[in-house]
Amino acid sequence: MGGGMWGIRMAVVLLSMGQVPICTFQVQNNITSMPELNISQAKGHWNFISLATNEKLSEEDKQDIKMSLTVFSPFANGSVNVQTTTVSSEGVCMEINTTYSKGNISEQYRSNDGSPCYFIVIDTDYKNYGIIYIGNIENKNDFQIKLYGRTKVVTEEVFKKFKKVAKSFGVPGKNLIMLSRSEPCS
Ligand SMILES: *[C@@H]1O[C@H](CO)[C@@H](O)[C@H](O)[C@H]1NC(C)=O
Ligand SMILES: *[C@@H]1O[C@H](CO)[C@@H](O)[C@H](O)[C@H]1NC(C)=O
Ligand SMILES: *[C@@H]1O[C@H](CO)[C@@H](O)[C@H](O)[C@H]1NC(C)=O
Ligand SMILES: *[C@@H]1O[C@H](CO)[C@@H](O)[C@H](O)[C@H]1NC(C)=O
Ligand SMILES: *[C@@H]1O[C@H](CO)[C@@H](O)[C@H](O)[C@H]1NC(C)=O
Repeated sequence: MGGGMWGIRMAVVLLSMGQVPICTFQVQNNITSMPELNISQAKGHWNFISLATNEKLSEEDKQDIKMSLTVFSPFANGSVNVQTTTVSSEGVCMEINTTYSKGNISEQYRSNDGSPCYFIVIDTDYKNYGIIYIGNIENKNDFQIKLYGRTKVVTEEVFKKFKKVAKSFGVPGKNLIMLSRSEPCS
């Protein structure tokens, strides 16, 4: 199972299953990473809680994207292993394990497996939430923004931050999807 991007690949898989075109986002962007990000402090478990996308998704597609659990394991050399476990709409558990390394653009963590995907940490307090931009090196109009929480809930304040970030990328509020909970994988 090659090519993952911190859970996004799973979302992409699920979106594909819903027959929704991928990589067709239409927004120009200019992203900056959180200043003084210390990636090693983001170590551990994160829940994928909400997705911001410019794509028009049907209610059914939205229902198909479930919460997933991600384990973030930074290495001493600055690379990060990202392991995501999620459950498909058919109830099948899937696990994706990918290592990301900093590329030439220092804020970008590029997938080591040759996929064009990368992530940038836009904001995090390490203890409660993380807002991640996921981009495509080959098409800057192809992106998603994801909200992660250490638990499955975030405060209203955090959600407002996420909405603000999404809005700054031109994603309208109605395209913020609160993911439904999935059955845990055993
Ligand atoms: C991105 O934003 C920075 C800071 O606001 C600005 O200096 C830079 O020119 C922008 N780059 C592009 C490509 O818009
Ligand atoms: C980053 O955080 C780790 C603890 O998780 C700490 O050991 C390290 O010194 C920090 N690095 C910097 C540059 O502050
Ligand atoms: C950092 O170490 C990990 C684990 O050994 C490895 O997979 C990754 O490629 C290394 N990153 C770089 C930039 O060498
Ligand atoms: C995922 O990658 C980590 C770090 O390389 C490794 O320790 C772990 O065993 C891998 N898990 C699977 C299921 O491949
Ligand atoms: C980094 O830049 C160098 C020189 O411009 C280039 O040869 C190399 O392929 C680049 N690496 C990545 C990962 O983009």
